[in-house]
Amino acid sequence: MTGRIPDSFLDELVSRSDIVDIISARVPLKKAGREYKACCPFHNEKSASFSVSPDKQFYHCFGCGAHGTVIGFLMQYEKMEFLDAVADLAQRAGLELPREAQAPRDPGSADLHELMLRAARFFEQNLADSPRAQAYLRRRGIDAGTCAKFSLGYAPDAWEALLKRFGDQEEERRRLLQVGLVLERSGERAGGYYDRFRDRLMFPIRDSRGRVIGFGGRVIDQGEPKYMNSPETPLFHKGRELYGLYEARQARIDLKQLLIVEGYMDVVRLHQAGISYALATLGTATTQEHLNKIFRQTAEVVFCFDGDRAGRQAAWRALENALPLARDGRELKFMFLPEGHDPDTLVAEEGPAAFENRMKQALPLSEYLVQQLIAQVDLEHIDGRAKLKALAGPLFARMPEGIYREMLADRLASKVGMPANKLKEFFASGESKRPAELKSELEIGRRGRMSVGRGNLLTQAITLILHHPAAARAITDAHLLTSIDKPGVAVLKELLEQAGAAAAPNTAMLLERWRDRPEYERLTELATLDPLVSDAAAAAKELKMAVQKLLEEYGPGHRMDELLKKAQELGLNYDEKAELSSLLQAKGRPRAP
Ligand code: UTP
Ligand code: MN
Repeated sequence: MTGRIPDSFLDELVSRSDIVDIISARVPLKKAGREYKACCPFHNEKSASFSVSPDKQFYHCFGCGAHGTVIGFLMQYEKMEFLDAVADLAQRAGLELPREAQAPRDPGSADLHELMLRAARFFEQNLADSPRAQAYLRRRGIDAGTCAKFSLGYAPDAWEALLKRFGDQEEERRRLLQVGLVLERSGERAGGYYDRFRDRLMFPIRDSRGRVIGFGGRVIDQGEPKYMNSPETPLFHKGRELYGLYEARQARIDLKQLLIVEGYMDVVRLHQAGISYALATLGTATTQEHLNKIFRQTAEVVFCFDGDRAGRQAAWRALENALPLARDGRELKFMFLPEGHDPDTLVAEEGPAAFENRMKQALPLSEYLVQQLIAQVDLEHIDGRAKLKALAGPLFARMPEGIYREMLADRLASKVGMPANKLKEFFASGESKRPAELKSELEIGRRGRMSVGRGNLLTQAITLILHHPAAARAITDAHLLTSIDKPGVAVLKELLEQAGAAAAPNTAMLLERWRDRPEYERLTELATLDPLVSDAAAAAKELKMAVQKLLEEYGPGHRMDELLKKAQELGLNYDEKAELSSLLQAKGRPRAP
């Protein structure tokens, strides 16, 4: 996403925007030393744990863990998409948006969006002309207003209906292919095309700005496959989109909660019943990308699943995906429907009030998790606790450290009658299983005191640069880090380069460079730690020491020393001798830059 906007523009944008201005326009800030404080706008509190640093251009709440840059703040507070936040700040700063930010995805995509919109209108028109499709919708209890709200349509029962309407020129046909509306013929008639959706009820899928980016098509009555979706296209990425989100945002300004259901028809039927905060994934599990999108809209999410085995399995997967995003101030709940029902049939049968009552009884994530864990182990038995540890450890390891995780551990401990400390010790050892790109190399206790010589060198070095980017100038031998084959060192090297190259680097600027990369979450977490150095000069000194130590411990000289030592003590085998001789030779030559 950020890939579309040049780093230089983001640097300029961050340096011209003042996070204190932007936040104080929305949250009353009080000056406290070098920082500003307030009651956190992202969770309920009475004492001020939200702080904003003008030096770092970064905010952080010690209570709920919310943190980010000025762009992140607008995304979190105003629920803006990344590009919208950038556009907003650019306008304030009097900067002209780069072309990459104006044209979504690629230069031709405006055309592609236009084509999708025209196709959606074509399907709508065909619905108006098809008594059969209309009769089906009536049988399903969908009224005309709902059809219009979701722009439901019908793809005629023909091989070339859409093709004839929009594909006169070869170039137009190629574009229909690009957006997945037609397929290429093979065999005798190779080179030609035919409509992908035929004789289907059409659900246009809109992005959060309301642009049609794909379609889901249901057979009328019976048939296989029941639903067909647009393929992945330059506009459409199934694992990212949520059906109904645009419509939900249109329906109400303040989304107190969002309900995630499984099907298109469920969303449509629930909205019709007035539950206009229902959305669905497009037949996939709920991904973290989905959840990030959802949590930009609201702090409360209810997952709704069928009561059968498949539903329970889907719920557990959703829980696993949601854990990394669980934190204080967010509510995740699970509801299960009686077997044989989906939201569509249930809301039709018992009405919206009864349905919303069921929602009120949804299980909070913590309760659902504890319940499921306990159901799987026999705590009377000696093996029970070991099994509990084995089951719960990896789940806890997925969660960010913080109050929420602590509370969950306490709760589980009290349920199983085990001292909370003991249980937490178990889980601390599960930490390394966290599926982060930086792996254990970047793991450090949130409260771990930082000072070179203690804790993890690499984490310390990275934390220092994030807090004092100017210190990177003190490091002249960053290029030598290339020789170290350890996860995370490449991140350190890149950060040193980025900070070294910028004229006036700050924390926010560095973080924005990483927004789209897997390391981003971890880096923003490190930006919330206190590096415990008094000033920039001290930071530069510590950073220099950390890099030197890394090079000593793992750098080019390290392997050679190891081999020399072994040669003296035990002797070397044939391969080791060859390795040592090539290392010694390399040392004789001047080092490549
Ligand atoms: P369901 O089979 O539960 O569909 O699939 P539904 O929404 O209740 O539809 P009706 O009530 O039978 O009309 C749930 C979702 O799974 C995806 C679709 O996104 C669907 O809405 N799905 C299902 C597919 O992608 N392909 C299929 O063949 C079936
Ligand atoms: Mn259904």
